[in-house]
Amino acid sequence: MKRTHFNGEITLEHLGQQVSVVGWVSKKRNHGSIVFLDLRDRTGIVQIVYQDDDFNLDIRNEYVLRVEGTVEKRSVANPKLKTGEVEIKASKIEIINQAKTTPLIIADETDALEDTRLKYRYLDLRRPCMQHFLDVRHQVKMIVHRYLSEHRFIEVETPSLILSTPEGSRDYLVPSRLHHGKFYALPQSPQIFKQLLMIGGLERYYQIARCYRDEDLRADRQPEFTQIDIEVSFLNQDQFLTLIEGLIKVIFKETVGYEVQTPLRRIPYSEAINRYGSDKPDTRFGMELQDLALELSNCAFNGFHGVETIKAIKVSGQAPLTSRKVIDELTLEAKKFGLSGIVVLKIENGEPTGSFTKFLSDEEKKAILQKMEAVDDDLVLIAAGPLNRVAPLLGAIRVNYAKKLNLIDPNSYDLLWVVDFPLFERDVETGGITSTHHPFTRPRDEDLKYLDSDPTRVLSYAYDIVINGYEAGGGSLRIYDQNVQKKIFETLGLSDEDVKRKFGFFIDAFQYGTPPHAGMAFGFDRLIMILCHTDNIKDVIAFPKNLAGVCPMSGAPQSVDQAQLDELGIKIDE
Ligand code: AMO
Repeated sequence: MKRTHFNGEITLEHLGQQVSVVGWVSKKRNHGSIVFLDLRDRTGIVQIVYQDDDFNLDIRNEYVLRVEGTVEKRSVANPKLKTGEVEIKASKIEIINQAKTTPLIIADETDALEDTRLKYRYLDLRRPCMQHFLDVRHQVKMIVHRYLSEHRFIEVETPSLILSTPEGSRDYLVPSRLHHGKFYALPQSPQIFKQLLMIGGLERYYQIARCYRDEDLRADRQPEFTQIDIEVSFLNQDQFLTLIEGLIKVIFKETVGYEVQTPLRRIPYSEAINRYGSDKPDTRFGMELQDLALELSNCAFNGFHGVETIKAIKVSGQAPLTSRKVIDELTLEAKKFGLSGIVVLKIENGEPTGSFTKFLSDEEKKAILQKMEAVDDDLVLIAAGPLNRVAPLLGAIRVNYAKKLNLIDPNSYDLLWVVDFPLFERDVETGGITSTHHPFTRPRDEDLKYLDSDPTRVLSYAYDIVINGYEAGGGSLRIYDQNVQKKIFETLGLSDEDVKRKFGFFIDAFQYGTPPHAGMAFGFDRLIMILCHTDNIKDVIAFPKNLAGVCPMSGAPQSVDQAQLDELGIKIDE
């Protein structure tokens, strides 16, 4: 098919030239006998103009055309288009294919419901913004391949039908036809394989890897997603993070023209929790958490006595806008985080007001004002209880207010490392111990001594890269000593039997000269989402699932034929 140019690339430079273009009709306008068409391809739109009588064609939106003609200067330029100064005067128009009226408007601005967009994803993908997102995705992929290859990494593919990996989510299982009653798991990540590649002497591995996790979905989570997965041997934490910062720098520079300043800030986990109430802090705005334990632990309110922490945030100027309804919503939020409530103080006429003030002495009121640097019309919200409930509650309220009050510049980027994560965390519900990252994370040498006596005190060589309040990636130095690895499994409450069955092959491998190694994985989709300033991960995935884990286009998941089930030896319990 003859095509001389891409539509979005025709400019004044081509004046007078004979061109041949193809694409979809994105708009048709009749001005008397003159017809204007916007013809769209992946690169953009070019205007076609012709006399209706010359062709007498029934052309509609989304028809596929090939047009030949001469590039001319427009009488009135359209500054919004790259090609806005020119148009093509058609000498030949060929209708390659017709199109039904589309169920959604093919333009950046669309009012189509998400399920309609997903059902007709192939039409949704014609929208220029969607093509831009996929283009950025492709560019980042190319940069990753280039940068890591230049740094002597090689891409190795790891299997998808595996024994379960312990990333802490539920596995997707695949039944085996040849071994009835046995199942493969789809990888939650290539974690075990990449460590085995280090034992295998590969030294520097990466993979743009698909991962599968059966977990509750959110705006930044998909059941099937992609990681930029990396592992190295013989680098210490500093050397490794510096290498990764180099990659981040190139990605931001070449895709969105943003100059990331390196080295990135490194904030210890405990500081992130204490100052921002989150292990993925958005530091583009203030409203930091303040500690009021000293000021309030002896106040007349029983609920503040003997608690682990008392913390507060100040929301400037919000007191007059805080109705009973808002206070009820804040209380509800506190309950969601497992606290009985939250104290709401409005600052009026130079002092805190609100029902809670009956528990406060004049000194305590003064101390709050001072510590919070609060003035009239400010709102002070105080929460007390265990740190692992108080911090996330205030952290969430902080971010909600920042969004509501437009405190965040939507075009800015904020990158940092959170380091020194605890090795274990206590499950808020069950009280049991789980790995904060995964069980292969190396405990800090100086904390090994607490492994038996006080495991939650042990910090680890783990790091997350946080961008604009999202966990964009995470990793750690790994355990490379078989005994330490065994000890960690033990602390997690795994029986010898369990360890042997789930990780026996892995532990065995450690006996044959395991190099010190480290690694991380970026959430590739999340990274693209952040670069493109969208808050919906589905925007950057060609064919995503909806929040119910369903593909509205194909209808997956679906029931299967009885014959297929029989082959697998599976009976469905209705
Ligand atoms: P982790 O579980 O932290 O680490 O995952 C790494 C990054 O992957 C992204 N991510 C997701 N993105 C979209 N949808 C999901 N459901 C989802 N889950 C995770 C996040 C996260 O930071 N094997 C380790 C890495 C390592 O230690 O090297 C791992 O998978 O951005």
